[in-house]
Amino acid sequence: MSKADVIVGLQWGDEGKGRIVDLYARDYDVVARYGGGDNAGHTIVVGERELALRIVPSGVMHRHVELFVGGGTVVNLQTLVEELDALAALGMDLTRLKISDRAHIVFPYHVQRDKAAEVARFDAIGTTGRGIGPAYVDRVARTGIRFADLLRTRELADKIRTNAGDGESADLLKTTIGHAERLKAHVVDGVAWLQERLTQGKRVLLEGAQGTLLDVGYGTYPFVTSSHTIAGGACTGLGIGPSAIGRVIGVLKAYSTRVGAGPFPSELHDHRAEQLRQQGGEYGTVTGRPRRCGWLDAVAARYAVTLNGLSSAVITKLDVLTGFERIGIVTGYRRGRKPAGFADVGEDGLEVEIEELPGWSEPIRGYRRIADLPKAARDYVERIGEILGVPIEIVSVGRERTQLAR
Ligand code: GDP
Ligand code: IMO
Ligand code: MG
Repeated sequence: MSKADVIVGLQWGDEGKGRIVDLYARDYDVVARYGGGDNAGHTIVVGERELALRIVPSGVMHRHVELFVGGGTVVNLQTLVEELDALAALGMDLTRLKISDRAHIVFPYHVQRDKAAEVARFDAIGTTGRGIGPAYVDRVARTGIRFADLLRTRELADKIRTNAGDGESADLLKTTIGHAERLKAHVVDGVAWLQERLTQGKRVLLEGAQGTLLDVGYGTYPFVTSSHTIAGGACTGLGIGPSAIGRVIGVLKAYSTRVGAGPFPSELHDHRAEQLRQQGGEYGTVTGRPRRCGWLDAVAARYAVTLNGLSSAVITKLDVLTGFERIGIVTGYRRGRKPAGFADVGEDGLEVEIEELPGWSEPIRGYRRIADLPKAARDYVERIGEILGVPIEIVSVGRERTQLAR
């Protein structure tokens, strides 16, 4: 029996999980997504080629890797089919992609409800508008439609009619049956499929989507997504026990970003935010929205270490900080004179304490050893290691696959 390792984002998503999963996947037999849907956008850059994955796990570039989409996910069939077509056009074999029969389906009516709910709220979340929240609502309300239902046309018709209403259901049933024809070869008993591989001693990597601070239970509620993004979500999202988990590897961007509304204590509002956005290409993979940018938040990072039971971390996008004279880290929160913690995020009057470290001006994308980095960059990495209290395995210094320092 092998144990599965988890890769999880430590901030508000877009930490660079996709490129890190691609890197680690070489040493695994299976890469499995455990939550979220096409609200995720995971980018991999190999040479000139760039992939932006939505549903398909980020192990896809490695031919030997089996790919799995777990029962904790919500999948838009149209997006998935388009993604499979795009990957097939690049010559990739996707018969090795399996989808849990327990995974839920996102229908166009979920997308409509998501958009309507945003308009109706006084405090819009700034969702990706992909119907993710409403699909999870249906799952919990026990009215959702699952991949298992795609295999039984008569029940599928009844369920779609009930959920979509008579007006839309005929067209929707037709397109869904078309998608089912296309996808049914990928559908498996998700619990048995993964269990079998763990029993055979296969090396399994679990890919998180979104980030810790977007977790529905422990993130900056209500400005969160609708799934458990933390490492614990890998168990419920795949139907495995906590004892089946091996290492938990966190991906931490060297600064912070957030797309959508909600509290962001270390956010910058001046030219430095713009510099991070430009140098880091901080525009949403899914929606193209400019991401909000700010310094690394040590309070949030330590909270994320605890929530995930982190074993080690990978730092990404260190190169983006090149050219900053001084680099800030938020090391504490206060409300008036009283110290505050992550639980106070979103409360009125929260102030931050900032530590400043010297920056560096040399480009660092060519470095392959952490020990060779300019002193200020090395010191910054070391400081992050102290904050997290776990070993730092790798520092990513560019978007291309080989741009890594160890
Ligand atoms: P994910 O959602 O966590 O997989 O991250 P995204 O792919 O949405 O966003 C990360 C973006 O940063 C992508 O455009 C990556 O190509 C890019 N990226 C990843 N690592 C690095 C890095 O070390 N340096 C730079 N400059 N870009 C990176
Ligand atoms: P990856 O996997 C960044 C954010 C949205 C919004 C909130 C709720 O690429 O890191 P939703 O559509 O999920 O109901 O939106 O969550 N969000 C993400 N932000 N990266 C993501 O995924 C995200 N997925 C959702 O912007 O604030
Ligand atoms: Mg992303």
